[in-house]
Amino acid sequence: MNPSLQARYTFAQTLAREAGELAHNYFKNLDQIVVESKGTQDEVSIADRETEVFLRTKIAGAFPDDGILGEEGGDDTNGKSIIWVLDPIDGTACFVNSMFSWCISVAVVIDGVPSIGVVFDPNANELFHAALGGTAYVNNKPIHVKEAADFKGGVLGVGFSHRSQPEEFTPFMYTLLSSGGMFIRNGSGALMLCYVAAGRLIGYYEPHINSWDCLAAIVITEAAGGRCNDFLTNDGLTRGNPILAAGKALYPALLAATGKQII
Ligand code: IPD
Ligand code: CA
Ligand code: CA
Repeated sequence: MNPSLQARYTFAQTLAREAGELAHNYFKNLDQIVVESKGTQDEVSIADRETEVFLRTKIAGAFPDDGILGEEGGDDTNGKSIIWVLDPIDGTACFVNSMFSWCISVAVVIDGVPSIGVVFDPNANELFHAALGGTAYVNNKPIHVKEAADFKGGVLGVGFSHRSQPEEFTPFMYTLLSSGGMFIRNGSGALMLCYVAAGRLIGYYEPHINSWDCLAAIVITEAAGGRCNDFLTNDGLTRGNPILAAGKALYPALLAATGKQII
């Protein structure tokens, strides 16, 4: 691994664990936190904001020339070839309601290629991580996708937000269920994608997701032998895109079930 990639990969793992500890301290004192609405089913708290400030401050200290794009703190990526993409808390709806499926997501895009992915789940003490060309791990254990032949071969993760329309999602659910499939939505797209990488889920589909929700987990899923769509196409970094992830055998059926042209 080249030294620049290695330095950021090592740094990102420590960073995500530290940010996870900070967020977890807020989680243990939820009664003291004010929750604000950003839109339909879209909330934010001081925990999200302060965790992102922590991440940005540490990255700017260690790699001052790198760009940063984060869900709560905006876009400081103009003209930069190395970009950190941050979701301080993915699964905020779970976090603010005392449920455990939330995580910290840290990705690094180098020259337009998602190159580092680190996702930390403080409640399970699971650090999912990978760098381009390397192995995917949970903590120190290598992980691999599960190669299901069809939807009957396991449980599929799904996601939906009100950035999408119900009518573009319900036909997919009909196809999945009428093919003998089953679904789960745990409120954190990043974690469910990591579960695909770890072979716990057979795939994941969400009609629209933002880059900070999924880029880290895409690196991890691909390193674990899975296939994802080309998320950064059509301005995916700033505008988001659909996300599809699965083992290579299931991917064509998953794509067909969406009824969409997804690159
Ligand atoms: C959301 C979660 C959710 C997904 C949404 C995301 P947030 O992120 O990942 O699972 O369905 O698309 O916006 O708001 O919890 O950071
Ligand atoms: Ca998110
Ligand atoms: Ca978030």
